[in-house]
Amino acid sequence: MSLRIAIAGLGIGLSVQVFPVGAQTPGQPPDTMAARVEACTPCHGNQGEGTSDVYFPRLAGKPAGYLYNQLLAFENGRRKYPPMNYLLEYLGDPYLQEMADYFASQHPPLPAPVPSDVSQDVLRHGEALVTRGDASRQIPACASCHGPTLTGMEPAIPGLLGLRPNYVSAQLGAWRYGTRTAKAPDCMQIVAGHLTEADVTAVAAFLATRPAPENAAPVPKGTYILPFFCGSQPN
Ligand code: HEC
Ligand code: HEC
Repeated sequence: MSLRIAIAGLGIGLSVQVFPVGAQTPGQPPDTMAARVEACTPCHGNQGEGTSDVYFPRLAGKPAGYLYNQLLAFENGRRKYPPMNYLLEYLGDPYLQEMADYFASQHPPLPAPVPSDVSQDVLRHGEALVTRGDASRQIPACASCHGPTLTGMEPAIPGLLGLRPNYVSAQLGAWRYGTRTAKAPDCMQIVAGHLTEADVTAVAAFLATRPAPENAAPVPKGTYILPFFCGSQPN
């Protein structure tokens, strides 16, 4: 107990890097946040910046509410990726919230934009969908929800920068085929349902060419109004 208090005191006095997350059990290493995220960093990077694997997403700097929703989704099966489904199974909601807060508070720089191997026409099509949408096909602009700078909005809309085309395509595909879902109304399932394979390729390629804005942090809650209500966003 006294050890726990000592760690907590250090956390307040020194820096936010020290996390007073739990007491030490004799014979076990201390339950620090650094020790907890060792289970995650081989796939997500030390600060959640991502790794060279094109399907392993960046976590750093995404809104904490968004990350928490995803951890719950892997825990309850709304999102399926077996290594993560097993890893999160017995962790408990407060533990998941603390990990979400940890990765949300990390701010390694966004990766440099990737020169694309698709044609200029495809990139222009991607740009049109991201910035203007296509009203004739009921596709709202991605930027209408993900923000004019595509950096997302607190508490639970993720930014779309720093994600690789393979990951974005896989996620849009998962919504189209129903293997990734969020609380209803599931905005992304509705939006992705209107996209063709060609649209998915184009938006994924265009997003990866975007340079990082000076401030890549998600904008505060209420900065803009979503075109329609999303169940994953608290009111
Ligand atoms: C074996 C590799 C692996 C490990 C270990 C792992 N992850 Fe993941 N994680 C992934 C992959 C792959 C995805 C994307 C899965 C999908 O297609 O939906 C993912 C997705 C996520 C997401 C959703 C990201 C987003 O932008 O929607 C979060 C949050 C997350 N992981 C957190 C964690 C945490 C916290 C840990 C440690 C407790 C962890 N992961 C361990 C591979 C891993
Ligand atoms: C009506 C609002 C809305 C619109 C329009 C919208 N999105 Fe989303 N998007 C969301 C919400 C809400 C989430 C978080 C879903 C969740 O919690 O699982 C999300 C999540 C995502 C993710 C997951 C990011 C990650 O890290 O896994 C991707 C990729 C994405 N959107 C791409 C797009 C693209 C591309 C478009 C345009 C074609 C688009 N979105 C349009 C609301 C929207």
